[in-house]
Amino acid sequence: MPNGVGRWKETRPAWDFERQMCNLMDTKIVRLKEGDADEEALLQAGEILKAGGLVAFPTETVYGLGGDALNPDSSRKIYAAKGRPSDNPLIVHICRMEDLEKITTCVSEKARRLAARFWPGPLTMILPKRGIVPKETTGGLETVAVRMPSHPAAAKLIEYAGGFVAAPSANLSGRPSPTLAKYVIEDMDGRVDMILDGGQVGIGLESTIVDLTVDPPQILRPGYITGEMLESVLGEVEEDATLFSVPEGQAPRAPGMKYRHYAPKGDLAIVQGTEDEVVKYINSQTDQCRLAGEKTGVIAAAETAERYRADAVKSVGGREDEEAIARRLYGILREFDEENVTKIYSESFGEAAGDRKGLGQAIMNRLLKAAGHQVVRV
Ligand code: TXA
Ligand code: MG
Repeated sequence: MPNGVGRWKETRPAWDFERQMCNLMDTKIVRLKEGDADEEALLQAGEILKAGGLVAFPTETVYGLGGDALNPDSSRKIYAAKGRPSDNPLIVHICRMEDLEKITTCVSEKARRLAARFWPGPLTMILPKRGIVPKETTGGLETVAVRMPSHPAAAKLIEYAGGFVAAPSANLSGRPSPTLAKYVIEDMDGRVDMILDGGQVGIGLESTIVDLTVDPPQILRPGYITGEMLESVLGEVEEDATLFSVPEGQAPRAPGMKYRHYAPKGDLAIVQGTEDEVVKYINSQTDQCRLAGEKTGVIAAAETAERYRADAVKSVGGREDEEAIARRLYGILREFDEENVTKIYSESFGEAAGDRKGLGQAIMNRLLKAAGHQVVRV
């Protein structure tokens, strides 16, 4: 039995009642196997997408909530299933290089070089759209976000669906992106036609988004493909000024980045300083919060996790192991919700502020957004 499905079965009677009251649909949940055995499920999922239905599926970054990108009704359904504002555009997923030109005009030399180097993979490019891509998919914009995922099941599903699958992360709007099928089931059971369970995703944070409609190209969302990697192909690359701070009056250029995202239900603050000072400060805060009736949580590196006294202490992995931290972060934020933790403190991860490089940049960007930019320096 795949992760989470057992729990879903146990809560079924309550669900059945809610399903009837809220017009929820029956969601087919399929555990993907390795190799050819997947073929049947993927073909069926492809047919669902072609017919205008919704299928949640694994990618190498996070689970996606797929619909036919060229069908405005499918995009409308995606927004409704997620409870997402319709001015927040979707990423169109493709599986063949030649399909890029079918949905974008003017694929620049820079875009070609990036695609050749990083596709299939966790990179999304913003390019001018063709008329064939409905405004419903791009949130009314004249540009379209395109990505070619490397996950084999995702690639096949896109092929079987006709080549163009719009897919935001498969979470309810405002919740952390799902890194396990059980989190997709939690958010999407009853709201989509099918959920493909491919186990734990590999990366755990959403793709890097780079805007190629401006010069120099601009990073709108940091991810596994880092600024240095992009610069090695493009030369100069800029960053959206809102990635790590909230300058007054300036909205992020990726519409979705303006929403309070990735957020756990409990109040989260990030604490920065020397190791001993951070441990001391967080312990004194969680002791006080507990006295005030809060349930307390801490996000810590493996090296320091045992030094905390909070009710729920979560280790993200070794401080230097950024790939493990990225993979674990969203799961931890959801675990705090499951355990009804109301006050959370997190150590700071990735490189220190001002010297953000590598995957640490993406981790810190997501953590800052989850914390609503609450940072305490001790
Ligand atoms: O890794 C990923 O990218 C995952 C998987 C499923 O592929 N997808 C994902 O999609 O993270 P979503 O919808 O959760 O995030 C898409 C982001 C949003 O912040 C959105 O505003 C931005 O991309 N975006 C989409 N189209 C855009 C455009 N034309 N211009 C600027 N930003 C755009
Ligand atoms: Mg998302």
